[in-house]
Amino acid sequence: MKILGISGSLRESSFNTALLRTAQQLAPAGMEIEIADLIGIPPYNEDVYAKGFPGAVETFRGQIAAADGLLIATPEYNYSYSGVLKNAIDWVSRPPEQPFNDKAVAVMGASAGRLGTARAQYHLRQVFIFLNGHVVNKPEVMVGGAGQAFDENGTLLDDGARDLIGQLLVSLQDMSTRMATG
Ligand SMILES: Cc1cc2nc3c(=O)[nH]c(=O)nc-3n(C[C@H](O)[C@H](O)[C@H](O)COP(=O)(O)O)c2cc1C
Repeated sequence: MKILGISGSLRESSFNTALLRTAQQLAPAGMEIEIADLIGIPPYNEDVYAKGFPGAVETFRGQIAAADGLLIATPEYNYSYSGVLKNAIDWVSRPPEQPFNDKAVAVMGASAGRLGTARAQYHLRQVFIFLNGHVVNKPEVMVGGAGQAFDENGTLLDDGARDLIGQLLVSLQDMSTRMATG
């Protein structure tokens, strides 16, 4: 099973990218998690879209289409998810054949605040209603106080949070299988 990891942060030492790396280590047997690179995706511009998807967007759309499921790690910016992630989603959502349709999706996140991206995650879930992605409901993985939650190598120190990521991956596996078998 091929899962595409998507981080809503471009930062080199991003806690959310570190969450995706943690998930790579915790993936159940048979699951492979590749991490997408959003850095080349330009700001959405309808005039550019009218001439065709930019290369980085085309690549990202292809990665999403080819994946059995998506694992999104989102930061929280001003009580919502990041503009980088919104911009990437907006590009991908444009016709033809937007690849989020009927895709299994899992969401997690790490942020500085105590609520650990709760508000960002609920905004993201709302957007996937329109996109007809199938977001797993449980468990919720919300890592607060991110500055203290990882060591200097980006290792997630909280065993409880690591367990939840493992459970989230099993839920994503189930949802991906259900989507594939109709
Ligand atoms: C523009 C901006 C807005 C932020 N707003 C919030 C917020 O609403 N809640 C929160 O917990 N942290 C907030 N933060 C802090 C982020 O949680 C923190 O920078 C985190 O490390 C970002 O994720 P990353 O490590 O994956 O880049 C904000 C940071 C930025 C840059």
